[in-house]
Amino acid sequence: MEVKLALTSATALDTEALILLETEGSVRPDLQKALASSYASGEIKGKFLEFTLVHGVPGFKATRILVSGTGQPGKLTEAGMAKLAGAAIRFLKGKGLRNAAMALEGDFSTAGFVEAAARGAVTGNWEPDYLRTVREDLPRPIEKITIVASGTGLESALERGQIVGEAANVARDIAVEPPNLLTPLALADRARAVAAANGLTIDVLDRDRMQQLGMGALLGVAMGSAQPPALIVLSYKPATATSGSHLALIGKGVTFDTGGISIKPADGMEKMKYDMAAGAAAIGAMQAIARLKPSVAVTALIPAVENMPGSRAQRPGDIVTSLSGKTVEVLNTDAEGRLILCDAITYAKQLGCTHLVDAATLTGAIAVALGQVRAGVFSNDEELAAKWLAASETAGEPMWRMPLDEEYREQLKSVYADIQNIGTRWGGACTAAMFLKEFAGDTPWVHVDVAGTAWLDEAKAWLAKGPTAVPLGSFVNLVMTWK
Ligand code: BES
Ligand code: MN
Ligand code: ZN
Repeated sequence: MEVKLALTSATALDTEALILLETEGSVRPDLQKALASSYASGEIKGKFLEFTLVHGVPGFKATRILVSGTGQPGKLTEAGMAKLAGAAIRFLKGKGLRNAAMALEGDFSTAGFVEAAARGAVTGNWEPDYLRTVREDLPRPIEKITIVASGTGLESALERGQIVGEAANVARDIAVEPPNLLTPLALADRARAVAAANGLTIDVLDRDRMQQLGMGALLGVAMGSAQPPALIVLSYKPATATSGSHLALIGKGVTFDTGGISIKPADGMEKMKYDMAAGAAAIGAMQAIARLKPSVAVTALIPAVENMPGSRAQRPGDIVTSLSGKTVEVLNTDAEGRLILCDAITYAKQLGCTHLVDAATLTGAIAVALGQVRAGVFSNDEELAAKWLAASETAGEPMWRMPLDEEYREQLKSVYADIQNIGTRWGGACTAAMFLKEFAGDTPWVHVDVAGTAWLDEAKAWLAKGPTAVPLGSFVNLVMTWK
């Protein structure tokens, strides 16, 4: 989608639909006359995500006006603006329109709102239907959105929003691919394409190199599959670094999770194609980072494997030696995410990363605790946790801090190895995080469990069904605000 900024007046804009914001409890003077009866009947209240489409409003060159509620005065956040823009785009797309404009007037004419509107419009335009060949009944994307606003610094704000929105759509393109097509090596190819197009360096470790290095935990998960594993390492180096930090963004890349020998029930297993959504978010974030050029070094690491049962698969009871040297007793082959992440975490430290953020569709337990609303955040470092939560807030990716008491570690005590890969059925998200903490050690680390938030089972007004790209926006904001 083409995203443009216009500093002209909204009334003179020639567009199929002009999106105008209506605040709850007030009446727009420029619509008062034309829409008097709609206001009087209470059809236009200005409630958040309330849309009214009207034709031929006198005083406007636009063919249609989409009156779009913002909610109560002063209540609309930047994250809310992104949702509003996305929902408006989806509404107009449903009407078969191909271009639109959105007026951000008065208090809404700020860099933050322009950025959010651009991002929301781009992500709202995405659909998960790339393999549908019979397309007559499918909505066609909006081709062009013009954001009308006035002020300084709005061009670069618009560009930032577009860059982050497009990066989220790249992550969703990858996450939505079915598991027969998106194998670990295919995921590596997607990362190579992003690297080549955006000037990032990439290193893909194959099974031999992982064996030489001693990544026994990651390789154990890969044993059951005919698809070879890959550890994808994407790096961004700033022209001039203003910070000595080196951030690692680590994303779980299980291209399909059957559970392995500890096999999952058939019902709903197809959803385990999105067990690489956090890895896709890390790849997409690197595209945005390469384009936004922050002054801090960032490396993304995506351990990519398929978790399959079979005669070569790892067994419950196997003991593997991780890259850290710690031995791990695999009591449940379905707790595979932590096994691949622990080696990626150790490798990130070996590469010199000073701060680690890992994201993973790690546990069903986080969805039991927080539902499909907030992702769970675990951390061994107050400063990094605070930075991360602030980044997630502006990204509109709701999260919640979860505990890491030493008591959880007791559940992971193994008689035969240094640690075991599962605890009891209680506090499953916390014991999974506790497992990873062991490998982060003293390095500042944040773990984000996105098992409940990486995928929408039903479309929202502002976003299609399917991958959400969470936590891509938080990744990007953390990097862009790093000091
Ligand atoms: N990929 C799953 C977690 C998951 C569940 C993601 C639902 C998205 C939706 C993970 O590998 C897994 O299987 N976790 C197990 C851990 C258990 C065996 C300790 C789980 O949550 O049941
Ligand atoms: Mn699993
Ligand atoms: Zn999994």
